Formats: sequence, structure tokens, C-alpha cells
Amino acid sequence: MGKNIVLVGLMGAGKTSVGKLLSKKYKLKCVDVDEFMEFSLGMTISEVFSQYGESSFRELEKDAIKVLSQKTDNIISTGGGALENEENIRNLQRNGVLVYLKTSPETLYERVKNQKHRPLLQNENPLGTLENLLNKRENAYMKADFVVETDGKSLENVAKEIGELCKL
Ligand code: S3P
Repeated sequence: MGKNIVLVGLMGAGKTSVGKLLSKKYKLKCVDVDEFMEFSLGMTISEVFSQYGESSFRELEKDAIKVLSQKTDNIISTGGGALENEENIRNLQRNGVLVYLKTSPETLYERVKNQKHRPLLQNENPLGTLENLLNKRENAYMKADFVVETDGKSLENVAKEIGELCKL
């Protein structure tokens, strides 16, 4: 294969879960940018946000992406905000085929509503937050090489579709 498969999209799109499935199905290594950061920093993403704030998180995320995008033959699951930064897009594109897991805010909300580990959604109106973030980020997500809709699909079917599109 050579290139990385880079999964992008909003929180709840299934990037981490689909990444792990793809890795198992096609025997490829997989790395999740948030998990890599948590491991290297020895802190959870929520702790990074609460102790240092979002802009420091974004700097650390940029450094992590720079390192991870040097890999080849990996599945890379990004955090939902990764493509807000042009440098991240360039780094991820250099060795990677980008796949946008396109999902409606309603579906995203259903998937994340009982989870507590995403600082940006710990507020009164997480659905509204998801809608706003989608408006802000969709242009960047649409720069992906492939767009896979995930509404109403199982993780297995999403992984299968990606496998076919990327000729894994
Ligand atoms: C974020 C998404 C999260 C994580 C952080 C910020 C975002 O990753 O990077 O909480 O800005 O959308 P997931 O998309 O994997 O939940």
C-alpha cells in the first residue's frame, strides 16, 4: 500500500472504531492521534484542555500529527479538529489518503451523548455545538480524497467501503 489511510471527521464519526476495525481486517498498524498524545503526555485530552486550554492542545496536536504523518502503511485516526489547521492538512496529505467519515449532527449526537471524555461537548447544547463545528469544518473535511457517509451504517460496512475505495 505505502500510503497511510487517514480518517477525518467530527467527534462521533467513528474514526477511532473504524480505524481499529480496518487495522484488524487488513492487518495494518493503526494509530489514533488523541491516544498517541495521551500516551506521550501521560494525561487525558480532558486534562490537557482543563490544565492548558484549547490553543495549547492544538499546538500539541500539530506536533503529534507532524510526527505521525511521517509513517507509512498505517491507519491514522485524527481528532475532529485536526483539519482546522492548514499545516496538519499538508502533513497528513503528504503520505496519506484522506477519508472523510461524513455524518449528520443528529447521528453524531446520538453516538456521543452518553460519553464524557470530549471537553468541547461538555456543555448545555452538544447538538448545537456539533452543528456549529460541522459548519466551520466541513469545507476542510471535503478536501479529503474520499467521502464515506456513515449515517445508518454499521462500523463493519463503513470499514468495508473504505477498504474497497482505498483498494486495501
Ligand atoms: C476534538 C475532537 C476530539 C479530541 C478533542 C477535540 C475536536 O477527538 O481531539 O476533544 O476539536 O473536534 P475525536 O474526534 O476523536 O473525538
